[in-house]
Amino acid sequence: MQNFDFYNPTRIVFGKGKVAELDKLVPANARVLVLIGGQSARHNGTLDEALSALGERYVELFEGIEPNPRYETLVKAVAQVKKGKLDFLLAIGGGSVIDGTKFVAAAACQDNDAWEILLTRGSDVKEAVPYGTILTLPATGSEMNDGSVITREEEKAKLHFSSEHVFPRFSILDPTKSYTLPKRQLANGVVDAFTHTVEQYLTYPVGAMVQDRFAEGLLSTLVEIGPKLLQNPRDYELQANFMWSASLALNGLIGAGVPQDWATHMIGHEITALYGLDHAQTLAVILPNMLSVRRDSKREKLLQYAERIWNIESGTEEERIEAAIRKTREFFESLGMKTRLSEYQIGADAIAGLINKLESHHMVTLGEHRDVDLQVSRKVLEASI
Ligand code: NZQ
Ligand code: ZN
Repeated sequence: MQNFDFYNPTRIVFGKGKVAELDKLVPANARVLVLIGGQSARHNGTLDEALSALGERYVELFEGIEPNPRYETLVKAVAQVKKGKLDFLLAIGGGSVIDGTKFVAAAACQDNDAWEILLTRGSDVKEAVPYGTILTLPATGSEMNDGSVITREEEKAKLHFSSEHVFPRFSILDPTKSYTLPKRQLANGVVDAFTHTVEQYLTYPVGAMVQDRFAEGLLSTLVEIGPKLLQNPRDYELQANFMWSASLALNGLIGAGVPQDWATHMIGHEITALYGLDHAQTLAVILPNMLSVRRDSKREKLLQYAERIWNIESGTEEERIEAAIRKTREFFESLGMKTRLSEYQIGADAIAGLINKLESHHMVTLGEHRDVDLQVSRKVLEASI
């Protein structure tokens, strides 16, 4: 096992009816900015519930954080925080609202150009406005981590930053809040959580038995509940297991002490920035092809994955690996996800532009061995058409 430093200060308040605990969780004298996305938090009643739990506190609202949250929108929230001398943020939504809130929390504490936060990947963040979240879409793990992904529309750039100053103080995980998710978002969430786990698990063995078994527990749970969730989005136990799996998939726990990949995500971000696919739509296309192209360097873990997740125990090594990759693709397709770029009308002529973007964002040595250079990324993209 590799050395590690695991730190996660986010309080998780889990269960039905837990939004009412906001009154205990938010300081009594806080001046609060509530941040939401489009209209889902309003439509499903979560916004009203939160406002009523905040009671007599001074509260302002910022609405309109879009999926793949934009810098151009978020700087308006930063100005609102500064103008109103607001000192606590409350995000209600999915990964986009929470990621956006992380950016606002950091940017509101500094005077220089806020885009620098992304260009320095968060290393210059020294403080942030404290904030909590109410999660309405299990997927990204943003509710329990220190990462954020922000898009600058005018540059078609989707970049990430992380800083220990932007962990949420608390996150309320009420599984009934995701009852209203459409099938597309449920499927996205399952694929995102699955891929987060794979990015940290399916690399090379370092003898991290606990991390491996945790990761396999998450993958098997997602395989078991994913299709059922699409049929029964109002099943509490399914939603509860989904929500907690997604948080655990990217809260640092399974990634501690093991090598990590993330090449699928980095290529996926460029596809979203240029073509507007949902985050998880890019993952469902790229992941199976990434595994296929890099099967030699991932051989041992691919065989372990084949056996423990898909019960594939017979055949040559090559056949078992092939079958595991096929099972992965079929699992995504069983959730209604497309697994080819051409199904989104993106053809081979898109590859050059995507490779240019990877290069300009310095994404030239990706993966657990830093050997995913532009040539490997090109191969993965060619296989993904
Ligand atoms: O905007 P509203 O009206 O709220 O609708 C949203 C949005 O249209 C809707 N939605 C959310 N909760 C709902 C609901 N609709 C009905 N009922 C509910 N309960 O779902 C749509 C998508 O929401 P979004 O927040 O964009 O989805 P997701 O949670 O998948 O977040 C995706 C973003 O997170 C980033 C992605 O790149 C992308 O920008 N990621 C963040 C990570 C992190 N911070 O650690 C890691 C991930 O790998 C990922 O990159
Ligand atoms: Zn993701």
